[in-house]
Amino acid sequence: MALILGIESSCDETAAAVIDSNGETLAARIVAQRIASQDEMHRPYGGVVPEIAARAHVEVLGPMIEQVLADAGLALDDIDAIAATAGPGLIGGVMVGLVTGKALAMAADKPLIAINHLEGHALSPRLAEPALAYPYLLLLVSGGHCQILEVRGLGDYRRLATTIDDALGEAFDKTAKILGLGYPGGPAVERLAREGDPKAVPLPRPLVGSGEPHFSFAGLKSAVMRAKQAGTHRDADIAASFQQAALDCVIDRTRIALGACGPVTALVVAGGVAANAALRGALEELASSAGLPLVAPPPKLCTDNAAMIGWAGAERFAMGYSEALDVAARPRWPLDANAAPVRGAGVKG
Ligand code: KG4
Ligand code: ZN
Repeated sequence: MALILGIESSCDETAAAVIDSNGETLAARIVAQRIASQDEMHRPYGGVVPEIAARAHVEVLGPMIEQVLADAGLALDDIDAIAATAGPGLIGGVMVGLVTGKALAMAADKPLIAINHLEGHALSPRLAEPALAYPYLLLLVSGGHCQILEVRGLGDYRRLATTIDDALGEAFDKTAKILGLGYPGGPAVERLAREGDPKAVPLPRPLVGSGEPHFSFAGLKSAVMRAKQAGTHRDADIAASFQQAALDCVIDRTRIALGACGPVTALVVAGGVAANAALRGALEELASSAGLPLVAPPPKLCTDNAAMIGWAGAERFAMGYSEALDVAARPRWPLDANAAPVRGAGVKG
């Protein structure tokens, strides 16, 4: 059994967790975890302000780690390794978590494991269900990332698709902003969409039908803006029509990716937008038509958290990986270093 301290600080969540890699149940695998969201601090700006984020991580992280160890009834000395997110993300925040991890590793003479935040999301389904076997097809949809990856094994990822402009969560957040729903917008758009008619507003489905499974949401967002400005639609109808258009894109793109990947054991969805119930329902249908199970971690493991970082650390620890203490924080860090750049792609890890 290995006990791993996980640290996450790459965006606007400060989080720490203790993972027991051998726990029989999910509750036993996550020995303790704490998350402090900075949503309130960023809300007035309608998005994450990097400097505010980094300062808040500094204030919260140290005491949080003490608390999470106390929750677990453990001392730092009982921990086998420290896993900290080392990128990609907002560099100030990443540095706070990584430097904290390094300091603890040095003070307690424990191995430090630098985790790619995207690997944390990619392996989070195995934290939920360790029986989930490699290789699986992963739809990773969050505020900063929108990718389809063939997860072949620990550290072995083939990127099949990425976004050429906005991430899916970003599209939800921008739609929320246009509709005055506040930040973060995904859950608010989903709630409002339940009261609307998904067919009420004609909206585009960018890239649907294209042979490669990439994503694009900028044109959809602009169309949402025009629909709002026209002043003739109910906000709930705009939200429902936007969500339907976005999900149509995701399902079409994922279908193409399923045809382009090798044999897989499951279709897996992770990242913050995986909390969206309509998305889960649509993916469930797609997976069953492909004869595959859909694996979706519980929503709390889909949004940013430290349990997934601790779990990725546990998988790496089991393979004997660790890093020297001069390992650098990386604002950009693609999971598949060999993936060809996509024309028009904003560089998003
Ligand atoms: O994984 P995450 O916590 O942070 C990033 O790494 O980006 O994802 C946050 C994103 C935000 O864009 C948020 O609006 C979106 O996930 N999100 C949702 C829902 N819950 C969170 N989008 C749509 N529907 C939801 N229920
Ligand atoms: Zn994330």
